[in-house]
Amino acid sequence: MVKIKKPRRGPSYQPMSRRRRKHYTYGLLAVIVLGIYYLYTSPRGVTPAAFRDHEKYMNDRANVGTLESKASYDWRKAPFHNIIRDYIPLPPGKPRTLPFVQFDFPPETKSQRVRRETRLLAVRQEFERSWESYKQFAWTRDELRPSTGEADDTFGGWGATLVDSLDTLWIMGFKEDFFQAVRAVAEIDFGKSDTINISVFETTIRYLGGLLSAYDLSHEKVLLDKAIQVGEMLYCAFDTSNNMPIDRLPVEGAKLPGGTGFTADSNICFASIGSLTMEFTRLAQVTQESKYYDVVARVSEFLDRAQNTSRIPGLFPTWINSYKEDLSNDRSFTLGAMSDSSYEYFPKMFALLGGLEPVYEKLFKDSAPLIDKHMLFRPMLPDEEEGEGLLFSGDVYGGDADTIRLDAEMQHLTCFVGGYFGLAGRLFENKHHVELGARLTEGCIYAYKTMPTGVMPEIFNIVACDSRTACPWNETKWEEEVLKRFYGKNHADFEAAVAEHKLPKGFTSIRDKRYLLRPEAIESVFVMYRITGREEYLDHAWDMFTSVVKASTTSFANGQVFDVTADPPLEPENKMESFWTAETLKYFYLIFSPPDMISLDDWVFNTEAHPFRRPKLLKMEAGN
Ligand SMILES: *[C@@H]1O[C@H](CO)[C@@H](O)[C@H](O)[C@H]1NC(C)=O
Ligand SMILES: *[C@@H]1O[C@H](CO)[C@@H](O)[C@H](O)[C@H]1NC(C)=O
Ligand SMILES: *[C@@H]1O[C@H](CO)[C@@H](O)[C@H](O)[C@H]1NC(C)=O
Repeated sequence: MVKIKKPRRGPSYQPMSRRRRKHYTYGLLAVIVLGIYYLYTSPRGVTPAAFRDHEKYMNDRANVGTLESKASYDWRKAPFHNIIRDYIPLPPGKPRTLPFVQFDFPPETKSQRVRRETRLLAVRQEFERSWESYKQFAWTRDELRPSTGEADDTFGGWGATLVDSLDTLWIMGFKEDFFQAVRAVAEIDFGKSDTINISVFETTIRYLGGLLSAYDLSHEKVLLDKAIQVGEMLYCAFDTSNNMPIDRLPVEGAKLPGGTGFTADSNICFASIGSLTMEFTRLAQVTQESKYYDVVARVSEFLDRAQNTSRIPGLFPTWINSYKEDLSNDRSFTLGAMSDSSYEYFPKMFALLGGLEPVYEKLFKDSAPLIDKHMLFRPMLPDEEEGEGLLFSGDVYGGDADTIRLDAEMQHLTCFVGGYFGLAGRLFENKHHVELGARLTEGCIYAYKTMPTGVMPEIFNIVACDSRTACPWNETKWEEEVLKRFYGKNHADFEAAVAEHKLPKGFTSIRDKRYLLRPEAIESVFVMYRITGREEYLDHAWDMFTSVVKASTTSFANGQVFDVTADPPLEPENKMESFWTAETLKYFYLIFSPPDMISLDDWVFNTEAHPFRRPKLLKMEAGN
C-alpha cells in the first residue's frame, strides 16, 4: 500500500460520514479504503504521540477565548449559613509516581491497524448520527427524543446532552462542533432552572464533570467559568448543620437569605453522598480554592470514621443517615444502583490526588476484601470450564452475626466493577484484584453474548455456585431456583418460565429486560484492554457495539431497548439519555483508538466517563 504522508490538519478536514455518503455505492470495500485514507488524514493520526498531535490540532481555536459566561444569578453571592472556618486543604506535596496502569503496548501490525481503524470509524459515525439529530431537533435541550425527533428537559433544563458530550466531541476530533457547542454552553443560564429540586448527584457528575473535563482538554476559559457557577450552586447543598450534602437542592430556595440552611437527609443513598468527591476535587485543583475540596473531604472523613460501624463492617450500606452520620441502620449492600460510584471513586480519588491522600486507599482496602468475599460470585453454567472464568457481583443483605445472605442478582450498572478492580489492582499493585477485574468483565461479556439481541439486560438473576473452584452443572438446582423466582411448583411451571422469559441455562429470571444504552460493560472492557493489552477485548467490544446499534437504532439516533430477549427486536423506546453520547460511544471510540489517546496513566474518568487530568511531575522534576 502507498504510504500517505503525515497529514496537515487544516480546513480540508471534513467529517467522514459526508464523504462516505457520496461513495456509498462502492460498498464495504470503498468504506474500508476511505476509512483508512480518512484516518491517515484525520486529527487522530496513528503516531505514538497521537494524542499530542490531536491536542495541537484541536487547540487551533475558533474565537471562543473571549466568550463571557452569562447568568441571571451569581451563585458566588448565594447565602451560606453553616459557615466553615477552617478549610481542609488539598493534600500538599509533589504528586507521587504511581505504578503504571496501562499495558506497554507494542507497535501494532498493519492488519491490526486496518481492523481497528475501520471499527473506530464506525463508532465515530454512530456518534455523528446522534449528534446531528441532537443539533437539529434538540439543540441546547437536555435530551433528544430519538424516534420522533423532539426534545425533552430532564436534568434541570441546562442542556444535559450538550454539556455531557463536549469532551466526546473533542476526543473524536469534531472540531467545529466542539466550538459550536462551547458557544452554546456560554449562553446556558445556570442562575435558574425549570426544575424545582435538582439532583445534586446528577448535576455534579454530568454538568460539573462535563465542564471540568472539557476544560481539562481544551483549556477554554468559559468552560471553567461555567464549572465555577455550577460548583457554587452545588456548594449550597452542603449548607447543613454538619455540612453533609443534601440529595435534592431547591434552586430557588437556595437563593433565599435568612434561616439556618438545609437539614441533612436522614435517608440518603451512598452514591448520592460519596460520589461528589472527584468533581469537587478537580474544581479545587484547577481553581486552587480549598473550599471545594473541603466539603467533599468532610464526607470522606465521615466515611472513614464510620466504615467499621455498618452491619457488615468495611462495607457501606445502600442507605445512610447523613444527619446523624450513621451507617448502622440499613441491611442492604450492593455495588449496583444507589451505591456504585461511591466505591468507584475510592481508587480514582487516590489517582486524582497523586497518591497523596491515604484515606482513599484505606477506604478501598478495607472494603475490597469484603466485596470479594460476600458480593462476587461465580455463576453455575452448563459449561463448567467457561463458568470458571466468570464472576458477577450480587446484592447482599447483612445481618446480625452470621446471617449475611447473597441475592445473585446482576445489574448492568454493576458491570463497571470489572474496570474498577482492574484499575485499583494496578494502582495498588494487587494481582488478585486485576484477575478479579478480568473475570468480572468476562461475566458481562458472557451476559451480552447469551441474549438473543447480543445485549445484556438491565437486571437478571442467575444461579450462584457454592464454590469458585468447582461448580458442576446441576439441572435440578437450576430448576429449583427458577421455581423460587417465579413461585412455581412443578416441572411444567419451570418449563413455562424458561420458555416465556427465554431464560438461557443458568439464568433464573430477567427482572428487567431493557437495555438503557448504558456504558458500564464497554467501560470495563475498555479499561481491561488498556491494562492487559489482550486483543480479544477488541473483538468483544466490536460484538457489543454492533449488537447495541442493531437493537437501538431509531429514525434519528438510538433509543432504549425494551426487551433484549425479543427476536425479532422491538421498536426502541423514544428515549436517549445523555450518557449515550457522553459515555457509551466514548468508551467504544477509545477502545479502538491508539492506546495513548486518553491514557489511563494521564487521566482518570469520573462516573460519567469524563476524563480529568491526573497530577504529574514533569520528567525533569522526577529526577531521572
Ligand atoms: C422539593 O423539595 C422540598 C423540600 O424537600 C419538598 O417539600 C417539595 O415537595 C419538593 N418539590 C418538588 C416539586 O419536588
Ligand atoms: C476495621 O476492621 C478491619 C477488619 O476487622 C480492621 O482490619 C481495621 O483495622 C478496622 N479499621 C478501623 C479503623 O478500626
Ligand atoms: C443438584 O441440586 C439439587 C438441588 O439443590 C441437590 O439436591 C442435589 O444434591 C444436587 N446434585 C448434585 C450431584 O450435586
